[in-house]
Amino acid sequence: MFDCFDRRIHYLRISVTDLCNLRCDYCMPEEGIQRIPRGDILSLEEIRDITEAAVELGIDKVRLTGGEPLVRRNIIYLVGMLSRVDGVKDLAMTTNGTLLDTFARPLKDAGLHRLNVSLDTLDPARYREKTRRGDLEDVLRGLEAAKAVGFDQIKINCVIAEHSKEEDALAVGAFGERHGYEVRYIRSMNLREGSFWTIEGGDGGNCDACNRLRLTSDGKVYPCLFNDIHYSVKEMGAKAALLAAAGNKPESGHKSENNHFNVMGG
Ligand code: 5AD
Ligand code: SF4
Repeated sequence: MFDCFDRRIHYLRISVTDLCNLRCDYCMPEEGIQRIPRGDILSLEEIRDITEAAVELGIDKVRLTGGEPLVRRNIIYLVGMLSRVDGVKDLAMTTNGTLLDTFARPLKDAGLHRLNVSLDTLDPARYREKTRRGDLEDVLRGLEAAKAVGFDQIKINCVIAEHSKEEDALAVGAFGERHGYEVRYIRSMNLREGSFWTIEGGDGGNCDACNRLRLTSDGKVYPCLFNDIHYSVKEMGAKAALLAAAGNKPESGHKSENNHFNVMGG
């Protein structure tokens, strides 16, 4: 699939749930946000079918996000189904890592290729404060488990306030170097204000090179995180919604009034 600006669209990010076991301050308000009604959530088979349709249109890279993807029931079953979709060359997941100690092995066995783990600080108190309920130890154990079961190329997503020389960012960088995790720094964004930035060490936020579409857990395809336009798989069918999203992908991001990170998967 090519969009109107000659960008090849071959990357689909799938948010499998809007729920999360953490409440990171830049992502969710303390009290949580309005949940997507459970009846609107796509079944795992529907997600597989949409992925198959996407692959027929040229998608070859898929990332599972959330919310926190590992809180979605039967996520391992979904990973297994997607890893068997012919044409998915790269199947990755972005997770907060808190449940990886348990899930690393089954994810590997189900055929997941790569993992990105969110980690903004190595200070246990600050981790608790930023995530409002998380335990840093869980993430550290999760990372170890992922490495132990054979995931290589584990990446750490580190959200920074301004720049990668902040104290927390430097500590995460040194930790990554010590353990062989590649650290990507993501400057905190604001969807409403339309403030977004390119990602140090990654390709997000670079509109000229953008190759992605996003599928929300209630079946809407968004061509851009920083724009509210979207197309409903349930109303249009998967192929038509994906083609419409690619065909109407804006040249660059602007801002979004209605999107939330936990719904859009970052
Ligand atoms: N700004 C930048 N990145 C964000 N994420 C969530 N909220 C924001 C935000 N406001 C990203 C984090 C996390 C991933 C799941 O979503 O990088 O690692
Ligand atoms: Fe959960 Fe990720 Fe949002 Fe944090 S950033 S609240 S871990 S979805």
